[in-house]
Amino acid sequence: MPVPLFDTETPLAPLRDELAARLGAVLDAGRYILGPEVAAFEQEFADYLGVEHVMGVANGTDAITIALRAMGVRPGDEVVVPSFTFYASAEAVVSAGAVPVFCDVDPGTRNVTPDTVRAVMGERTRAVLAVDLFGLPAPIGELRELGLPILEDAAQAAGASLAGRRAGALGDAATFSFYPSKNLGCLGDGGAIATDDGEIAELARALRFHGSRDKRTFQYVGYNSRLDEMQAAILRVLLPHLDGWCEGRRAAAARPLR
Ligand SMILES: Cc1ncc(COP(=O)(O)O)c(C=O)c1O
Repeated sequence: MPVPLFDTETPLAPLRDELAARLGAVLDAGRYILGPEVAAFEQEFADYLGVEHVMGVANGTDAITIALRAMGVRPGDEVVVPSFTFYASAEAVVSAGAVPVFCDVDPGTRNVTPDTVRAVMGERTRAVLAVDLFGLPAPIGELRELGLPILEDAAQAAGASLAGRRAGALGDAATFSFYPSKNLGCLGDGGAIATDDGEIAELARALRFHGSRDKRTFQYVGYNSRLDEMQAAILRVLLPHLDGWCEGRRAAAARPLR
């Protein structure tokens, strides 16, 4: 029996009418970028994660670049990145003007550890990008003991948790991708930054909108990286199902191989 790598049709089929209704409502409202659907999704996802702030952006790669800059990473700074991750983790560091320095991963978890990060830390190390690979959160509590700011790349880990906290609530800030194959995927591109830190949140909000806080003065060279209303409306329908879908994955993974 052919088993597809991922299947969006089966989980979305029972939600088709609700999705169509919510998309129709966005069409009628006539607001398409950073409107009430995005604001509502940001609040609902923040509540789900247990963090203060969520900012929707255009994709998970931009989320990393913007979050690093909002955390104070400057051109020439070094950011430790796992050598085993999707390309975008390192690409986004370069887009922020910084230098990715690759560290090893634990062969058991495929995640970074304090020892593998420590082995490549130097004077110019400014932050660690800890990737929650294949849904398994990186040991961020232990990484904190290194004394460096930690950005959690939770693109693959929506719905996961570690020691009672959600993936996305573990680092100084975290990033998500809502690419359709992700645990929480929209019907196009989308991403988000999550943090408890008000200053990081405020700067990230400006950076995602051309470096402007008020749409009149442009303070930084930022990005046009916004989540749109259609994707936010879709994500609001899907978010309440995330935990159930994750349970299904865990149950499938726990089945003994025959
Ligand atoms: C670990 C990781 N980081 C970053 C990204 C980038 O996300 P996006 O494709 O939304 O830019 C992905 C997924 O593609 C990913 O798996």
